[in-house]
Amino acid sequence: MQFIYALEAPVTGTTTTTQRTAIVTGAARGIGAATAIRLARDGHAVAVLDLEEAWCAETVSAITSAGGRAIAVGVDVSSPEQVEAAVERVAMELGAPTLLVNNAGIIRDNLIFKMPVEDWDAVMNVHLRGAFLMTKAVQAHMTVEKYGRIVNLSSTSAQGNRGQVNYSAAKAGIQGFTKTLAIELGRFGVTANAVAPGFIATDMTRQTAKRMNISFEDFLAGAAEQIPVGRVGQPEDIANTISFLTSEEAGYVSGQVIYVAGGPQD
Ligand code: NAI
Repeated sequence: MQFIYALEAPVTGTTTTTQRTAIVTGAARGIGAATAIRLARDGHAVAVLDLEEAWCAETVSAITSAGGRAIAVGVDVSSPEQVEAAVERVAMELGAPTLLVNNAGIIRDNLIFKMPVEDWDAVMNVHLRGAFLMTKAVQAHMTVEKYGRIVNLSSTSAQGNRGQVNYSAAKAGIQGFTKTLAIELGRFGVTANAVAPGFIATDMTRQTAKRMNISFEDFLAGAAEQIPVGRVGQPEDIANTISFLTSEEAGYVSGQVIYVAGGPQD
């Protein structure tokens, strides 16, 4: 048998992880909580951000009780003043943040003819304005450190989803935002990628089941039937992908949208 690829360097054993400071928004529960816990397991100090500091307690204690470092920070990601103060506090208490996961999100679903303008604005403010404000504040540290990993949460809904004209526009916007960050910040050692989950079992999808007036269990079973791998996603499925994208080894992956949906995306 002929090997066409040769190892250029000898395998020298396990890779070491530099401990960095990570910020995960919307990390009180769901995908954000799983991601914060995973990044702590990867060896990083983690700032757990959510609307109320008290809501972050469970995630923080899951990290600290396992020997990790974490702090809870209450912040509305759509407020410039609160974002500035939160990022400053993280830098003071944990060190310059060089990993950022823009995960905070809300849904305000409705068909367009019934959607109040407030619900359009609310969704844009959390997803797009929030990701913009957080990234603007954190990239100031990343560019000084000459290192950064940004991961933004998009969604399969970016490609269109009935009842989500606001959310799908925001999640498509996140993809353009991410690609532009990759172009602007690459020369500073900063990568930016988007993770676009399909159906993940969290309070957000529980809310959707409630709106559709079906039990969460039936909703999960129905969704699983449509998904090639035959199950719905768990928050850890997304956290695992984010773990890779925030690692040093992912330094040549930038400006990508990674669909994590249990099957291909049209
Ligand atoms: P979730 O509703 O369980 O958690 C979202 C968290 O964001 C909550 O803790 C909430 O308090 C926080 N949050 C909301 N507004 C905020 C604000 N203004 N400032 C700070 N924190 C705020 O949602 P889930 O399912 O964990 O979703 C996380 C992300 O993944 C969201 O961006 C969502 O759009 C996205 N996503 C979720 C999917 C799913 O099937 N669950 C599918 C595709 C994307």
